[in-house]
This record gives sequence, C-alpha cells and structure tokens, in this order.
Amino acid sequence: MCGIIARVGDGDALGEILGGLRNLEYRGYDSAGVALRTEDGIDVYKREGETDALVDAIGDRTPDGTVGIGHTRWSTHGAPSDANAHPHTDDEGRVAVVHNGIIKNHESLRRELRADGHTFTSETDTEVVPHLVSRELAAGADPETAFRRAVDRIEGSYALAMVVADEDAVYATRSGSPLVLGLGSAANYLASDVPAFLEFTDRVVYVEDDEVVVLDGAGYRISDPDGETVERAPETVEWTAGDAQKGVYNHFMRKEIDEQPVCLRQTVDGRLDVEGRADGGEGGGGTPVLDALPPGELSGIANVVFVACGTSYHAAMYGCVLLKRLGIPATAMPANEFAHDPMPVGDETLVVAVTQSGETADTLASLRAADASPARTLAVTNVVGSTAARMADDAVFIRAGPEIGVAATKTFSSQVATLAMLAERLADDGAGVGATTPGGAAVSEAAGWSASLASLPDLVETVVEDGGAARLAEAYADAEAYFFIGRGTGYPVALEGALKFKEITYEHAEGFAAGELKHGPLALVTPATVVVAVFTGRNDDVTLHNVREAQSRGAPVLGVGPASSTAARDAVDEYLEVPDADPELVGVLANVHLQLLAYHAAAIRDRAIDKPRNLAKSVTVE
Ligand code: M6R
Repeated sequence: MCGIIARVGDGDALGEILGGLRNLEYRGYDSAGVALRTEDGIDVYKREGETDALVDAIGDRTPDGTVGIGHTRWSTHGAPSDANAHPHTDDEGRVAVVHNGIIKNHESLRRELRADGHTFTSETDTEVVPHLVSRELAAGADPETAFRRAVDRIEGSYALAMVVADEDAVYATRSGSPLVLGLGSAANYLASDVPAFLEFTDRVVYVEDDEVVVLDGAGYRISDPDGETVERAPETVEWTAGDAQKGVYNHFMRKEIDEQPVCLRQTVDGRLDVEGRADGGEGGGGTPVLDALPPGELSGIANVVFVACGTSYHAAMYGCVLLKRLGIPATAMPANEFAHDPMPVGDETLVVAVTQSGETADTLASLRAADASPARTLAVTNVVGSTAARMADDAVFIRAGPEIGVAATKTFSSQVATLAMLAERLADDGAGVGATTPGGAAVSEAAGWSASLASLPDLVETVVEDGGAARLAEAYADAEAYFFIGRGTGYPVALEGALKFKEITYEHAEGFAAGELKHGPLALVTPATVVVAVFTGRNDDVTLHNVREAQSRGAPVLGVGPASSTAARDAVDEYLEVPDADPELVGVLANVHLQLLAYHAAAIRDRAIDKPRNLAKSVTVE
C-alpha cells in the first residue's frame, strides 16, 4: 500500500504534493511526508498521522521549491511513527526516497551498508535505498546511474521516487507496485494513482515494471532497464477531478453509495441489447456487448475460476452463482489461496480476477499463477491501465469511476452488473456446454438479464433514497454482535453486509450462508445479537426456517428483501424493502441497504468512516 507522488515543474511544489497526498490517503494514512529540493539541498518534513498532521508540522515554514516527492504510509515494516515515516534519507540528507511496496532483502542490505559505515534511523525496509544510492554517488556515479544500480540490488515489490540535492529532477521506477506519469501544462507528476494529480491533468502514461522515469526541467524520459528510451503515447483518463472530491458530502463512502445509479448506468451503457434477444441482432447477437470479448470468443470455455479479495471476492461469489444459474461450472477462491494453493485449471478454464484497483497483490499473485498454467485469464477491474488489466489476457472495465472511500461500495454493484453481462456472454458462446445441474437438466442458455440490468440503476436509486437503514442503525445500536445470513446470491450479499459493518463500525459482525447458522454460529445467537436476513425472492421459504431458528433464541431479525415478499416481511421484526426485480439482481439492491446500515451505524459511533483503522484501500502487499 502507501501512496507516493512526485512533482517537477513551475510554481509551488509543496501545495500540489500535499493536495496529492490527501487524494492518496485511501492507500494508507499512518504517516505522511514530503521532501523538497530547495536552494540549500533537500528539506524533509514528516509526521505520524494523516496529511493534516504533516501540514500542522510544517506550520508557517513554507519552503520554496518546484521539485519534490511525497508519501502517505500504510505500515508494513515498523510501527507508525515520525521516524518510520517517509521520505527516508542517506546519512548526509542529500538523497531522499519514497517507496510503496516491500523490499524483501532489506536486512542483508542493511548489514552490508552498516559494515560500510552507514547509519539507520528507522525500522523500515525502504531506508536501505537512499543509502545504496548515496554509496554509488560517493563512488562517482551520476544520479540516474546511482539510482539504477541501487534498484538493481533490491528484491521485492516497489514503486520508488527519489530526489537528490543539487538536481532539479526526480528519478522513479516500479516493479509490481503501480506508478503513473501525469503530464500537466506547468508540471509533470508521478504517482501511485491518477487522483493524486487529476486536478492538474488527465493526460497519463502508465509506467511498466523495471522502467526508469526521469522528470526534469526538460520534461520527462522513460527508459528500459538497458537505458534505451521508451516511446509511449499518453492516454486521456475519463475520470474528472470532481470524481475524486467529496463535494457536499461528509464522507466519500456516502457520496459513493449515492453515486451507484450513475455508476451502474456507466457500467451497462452501450453494452446491453435489451431489444435484440429474440431476433439475435448483429454484433451482440442479443447478448451484452463486451468489447474485449466479441461473440464466439469464449466458446471454448468449459469452466470459470474467480480469484479476488474482500468485497471483490464477494462480487466474484455473486458472479459464480449467476454462472451456475446458466449451467456454467464456476468457483470463486480467495486470491491468496489460489496464488499459493491453486486448484487444477486447464486450457478450457477462464480465470477471472475481480479487482477494483487492479493492484491488489494477492490478486496479481493469482494472475501470475494462472499465467503459468494453460488457463485463459481475464481481469474485471475499475482501473484502466492497472497492473491486472495489463497482466491478464483480456480486461473488462466496470466503469464505476474513482472510489476513494476505503470501504468499497459502488464498485461492488458495478462488478456484479459486469459479471452478469459476462455470464450471459459466456452462456451465449456455449461455455460450459454439457454441464448439468444435480437435477440432471442441461441449463446452459442465457437468462435474459439485459432488461433487468437496464432498469437496475433506477431501482438502486429508490433504495439510496430510502431512510430505513438509518432508523435501524439507531434502533439496534446497542447489540453485542450482528450476524448476516442469506442464500444463493443473498449469501455473498450477507458476507458483504457483514464485512462493511465490521470494517467501519468496528463491531463484531459475521456473515453466514443462512443454512449454516444452525451448524455452529447459532450458539452465539442471543437476544443481544441482531440477525440480518437477506431475501432475494428465490428460496426465501428456506431462509425463513433459519430466521425462525434465530428468533426462537430471542434474536431480533432485520429482513432485507423484495417489496412483494410478504412472508418474509411478516416473519421478521423489521423489514427494509427493495423494489421487486429479477431475483438474481435483488441482491445488488439489498446490498445498498446494508451499505447504508453500516454507514449510519459507523456515523453514530463517530468512526473514521473513509479511513477505518488498520486498513487501506489498495493492498499491494501479500
Ligand atoms: O482493489 P481490490 O478490489 O482488489 O481490493 C480488494 C479488497 O482489498 C477490497 O475489496 C476490500 O475488501 C474493500 N475495500 C473492503 O471494503
């Protein structure tokens, strides 16, 4: 994790770097720091805590400088502290470095450098880098050569940016951690993610692993490990600066919950052929159109393995249920499990990495494992130019716009909608042909979800506007624990509801397959625990058995489900309704209520909703 930024150009570097750090705080907020090239050399300011603490520490000292680097940290090596905050420097303070990632061989390098007389002031893995560079500089190397030689010595994952005294330049590289170049009119930028500089430019160049970038007064130069110049045309990102700002909202999470109708419209825009199913129109053949996967492209696929983490894993589980409905064998694995203990895959397997950021280390490790197999790979991601998008054989973008709140909300909805379209594409290509359900029937035919997906944004809008979750968050604020249950597509939604709740309220919350409650968790159910039951309109009668099991132990039950499910409504203590819809998509609507429930419960407890403790949005370490 961690966010890095670098800036070279005309005008004030400090203000732009601090602004960039605020926009990168979703990547970590244990400490923040900047290093500026000034007339006297390099000025470093760093502080434990968020960027605001750094701003306070800088106070009235507003150092001039047009060149600088900045960092916001999610701790891996060494506790959050001023000393462990980046940038890190060499003994003389003439080299300053910021780093996102992990340097695996830092201990042996530290021993080697200590033996050479270098002293260390932090517990971080990063600190070896400025010392390696300074040793090369002392030996007579120019800054770029010194930087390259230092990078040659380190093992692990990294995006690094460096400033040296006496040079109005920034040197940067990456391996396994993201780094994107932003080309502005008055300055150029390097950062872990586009929102860091989106206020100044939307023209970007994605840096590839092992490339070295030099920003200086002349502009920028990208070169390969041999020093050969790399020419790569800039791209324009579709995100706007406003997308990455809170606007009138108190929290990004709330803004992003409210944005879901708009995001879902973007997700499905131009991809659905609502009319064409019956007559099989050209191009989409009546099925969703996914540019990366034209009709016929997936015809050889017999089974699908999803790999993902956290909320994306829950979206993947949801996608799995959808595929199974269409008779396509599918399974979802936590990405870190697949990476180190993969299930057997073959050339008829499609491995689908679902990842908002496209940078989650566990998910990338899974993609690497899949790459080493005959399986075909696909990334379903929000970030164009992300590592996952570039690593996988193909990429489909969920088009949700930047998500800044650490708690994923709008991207879950857009992921599920994208996976529903993918499921239909697979079914229409005949994927999974020959598979049968346990009942014996071959079911591989498309489900016609296009019309339902087209109306999903409007339906989500009605849930976003419903105030029911706020009332229930207040009414049940004193519970000792919160258990979420569901079946079918309601099961991943229950898991997601529990994840969201625990993540931002810090309360004990767990999700279960509804039928599993009686196999152990029921021992925890008391009148002081709240059970939240997700109904989808499919097999709700069975879920109602599980509801009664909880109620007979005295637990209050909150139901979330379709307006017309009177049996569910009558059985539970409170009911949050969603508009009637295709049962397979009701889960997306129910999930919005659960997002709001978590949000309001966290607000009541005055939690750091956008930056929950110990977490970061983009987990770029395994
Ligand atoms: O960027 P990714 O979708 O790969 O991130 C995976 C998880 O870290 C992420 O979904 C996490 O669980 C959420 N931020 C939780 O709300």
